[in-house]
Amino acid sequence: MNENHDIIVELRNVHKRFGPLKVLQGVDLKLQRGRTTVVIGESGTGKSVLIKHMMGLLRPDSGEIYVESERIDHLREKELVKVRQRFGYLFQMSALFDSMTTGQNIAFPLLEHTDYNDREIERIVAEKLELVGLNGSQDKMPAELSGGQRKRVALARAIAMNPQIVLYDEPTTGLDPIRADTINDLIIKLKHEIKVTSVVVTHDMASAFKVADRILMLHEGKFIAEGAAEDFRRSTEPRVRRFVNGQSTPDEA
Ligand SMILES: Nc1ncnc2c1ncn2[C@@H]1O[C@H](COP(=O)(O)OP(=O)(O)OP(=O)(O)O)[C@@H](O)[C@H]1O
Ligand SMILES: [Mg+2]
Repeated sequence: MNENHDIIVELRNVHKRFGPLKVLQGVDLKLQRGRTTVVIGESGTGKSVLIKHMMGLLRPDSGEIYVESERIDHLREKELVKVRQRFGYLFQMSALFDSMTTGQNIAFPLLEHTDYNDREIERIVAEKLELVGLNGSQDKMPAELSGGQRKRVALARAIAMNPQIVLYDEPTTGLDPIRADTINDLIIKLKHEIKVTSVVVTHDMASAFKVADRILMLHEGKFIAEGAAEDFRRSTEPRVRRFVNGQSTPDEA
């Protein structure tokens, strides 16, 4: 049992492989309540795999995972449904249901998991749309929205159930710098206004520096660096520098 109330999610020595491919190779992580933790790392290092473990979408081969002091890695699927309700998950591809309106997309988890009546659901949908700056777009179809607007609708859906923890998988990828910054501002706003604990997986260093309370770098299945934005800006660790500066070959200096 983990007695530290400031820690909302903890991973201890987590290993995960897919056949011969070793992805996570001893990951330790503590998420502090109310803080934004950013995970960076090259494509294919296991960032998405990592966050899927936090909400029980993947099970580790070994190691332990705790959510609010409850060990979740051995739970049955039925028990995991409850655990997952504490999480909002913004998928890497922010897939909306194309045949549903914006409002129906956001209402979907509420219809699945709550007994709210139509009026309450309408109120929540309106409230979440307002929070992401898309007031009144309930009746729009996803095809009518820009990429940035679709991300924001997906975020409104991810927070429909008032999750304590929001996992953002590459929230700014594919957006122009201005739209990307709107998403950064929303991540910060949700932290302040609804006190969520956030994990942001990203390649976008501008976004990482802006939203992070703490940054961790995943490399070859382990965290190789951890610190505040400033520590990463100044880091002399070659692998960190290459990533932060976007260099494709090792620094010769
Ligand atoms: N369900 C799965 N079955 C088999 N292999 C998987 C599965 N999920 C992920 N992998 C593999 O695990 C590795 C890590 O994948 P992951 O999606 O976590 O990478 P990532 O760090 O999120 O990369 P990107 O930045 O490109 O999104 C990849 O090689 C991927 O092919
Ligand atoms: Mg990924």
